[in-house]
Amino acid sequence: MPRMIVNDRPVDIAMDPRTPLLWALRDAANLTGTKYGCGAGDCGACTVMVDGAALRACLVTLSECEGRFITTIEGLSPDRSHPVQQAMVAEQAIQCGFCTPGIVMAAAALLARNANPSDDDIRDAIPNLCRCGVQPRLLEAVRRAARVMRRETTLHAAPVPGIAPADAARTTPALSPAPSGDTPR
Ligand code: FES
Ligand code: FES
Repeated sequence: MPRMIVNDRPVDIAMDPRTPLLWALRDAANLTGTKYGCGAGDCGACTVMVDGAALRACLVTLSECEGRFITTIEGLSPDRSHPVQQAMVAEQAIQCGFCTPGIVMAAAALLARNANPSDDDIRDAIPNLCRCGVQPRLLEAVRRAARVMRRETTLHAAPVPGIAPADAARTTPALSPAPSGDTPR
């Protein structure tokens, strides 16, 4: 039974070790902030951090995650106050929002290792697809988040309407597979 740390909690996952991490997060852990887009590593909607690096959860198996630290969008910040989250709201770099969790995780991983990324660095680190076309605003959002993290400016974006902080701070419940056919969006 694969064992790993998900959002700072040690978990055993009662699923086939060959299962992609994406399905353990969504179906067993109910961490549905990690999105299923293409399932083939192309879109980036499923991006999470594995040991601090942005990885596509549809491409990594549970056995490959054994003993590693997984962070999902639910675990990035207890109250949506990560500078990337705030900057995405402030720059209105969100349309339908389906791609947003993956983009936020990729951006947060980038800024954790590069405090002052160039525009090319940002484009290289966040090749995520967005069918709503937020890329121009995304660039400014990541630049702005970087300035906040370098303490060159402050940012206090308004909360996103309709999403309670307690929901955003949801932690991993006991990991057991959900009933088959029940795939929340
Ligand atoms: S769902 Fe994983 S990259 Fe598209
Ligand atoms: S905001 Fe809709 S897909 Fe990116």
